[in-house]
Amino acid sequence: MQTRSFEQGLQLVIAMLSGLEKRPDLRADNHVLQRITQLGKLARKPGAEEDLSVREAFQAGEPSTTEAADRATGEPGKREKRADPQTFEELRTRVLACTKCPHLVAFRHTVVFGVGNPAADLMFVGEAPGADEDMQGEPFVGRAGELLTKIIQTMGFQRSDVYIANVLKCRPDIPPGTSGNRQPTPAEMQTCLPYLREQIELIQPKVMVALGATAMRGLFGKTEPMKDMRGRWHSFNSIPVMATFHPSYLLRNQAMTEKRKVWEDMLQVLERLGHRISDRQRNYFLR
Ligand code: URA
Repeated sequence: MQTRSFEQGLQLVIAMLSGLEKRPDLRADNHVLQRITQLGKLARKPGAEEDLSVREAFQAGEPSTTEAADRATGEPGKREKRADPQTFEELRTRVLACTKCPHLVAFRHTVVFGVGNPAADLMFVGEAPGADEDMQGEPFVGRAGELLTKIIQTMGFQRSDVYIANVLKCRPDIPPGTSGNRQPTPAEMQTCLPYLREQIELIQPKVMVALGATAMRGLFGKTEPMKDMRGRWHSFNSIPVMATFHPSYLLRNQAMTEKRKVWEDMLQVLERLGHRISDRQRNYFLR
């Protein structure tokens, strides 16, 4: 485990340094030093190996992975799909070294590639990393992320059973001295979307969930209001995509009716995956 996480840490550092190498303003800047510090912390954090591990999730016959796959499919023993680990690693390395948007490169602390099981049947697509995600290098770890994790768990999964990625892999920059997040621009999305498309192509999820308007715009170019798109199936390269509200919307609007809407969308997802749904699950957020 230790050796594996060390190797992966090393790969990340190499990817980052190779990216910097191509920059005219090459220097050992704070970003690199911070990332290396983070990697050191991650390597010491219990369970970090699981989060960082891609190869591990591909090992055929490994009990945890098989169980995760069964949980995600609802079909014990019927797991066939396996993304090629080398190709997935190669994509990760490329994305971590990306310097296509110089303004985002200058602003970011990390590139947030994605997290979870690369052989997952269920994939969530969000908007872009926020401040927490940018610091930790993992999508959906802030307040919205905590809510997404609860939704995933209420569905009967762990984060490591599904795959979570964003339309944008870098945090959209904001003016110095300000806080909060801004939406990705159309140009940033155009530049970054090929990476998400490659992830989807490799993972080949059976079902996807588009979290919010930016995910819908990125995947489909659709700009209708979320209230009209959510709760319906859309199709991305023949993969069914359920559109639902972004968790940050639920943080802003805590009404039970809105939680129920998102939950009903997730029940549709579970049904589509062929999952057994308990009565308790069916009745969440009903008064
Ligand atoms: N919101 C997103 O859309 N993605 C994240 O990773 C975090 C918050």
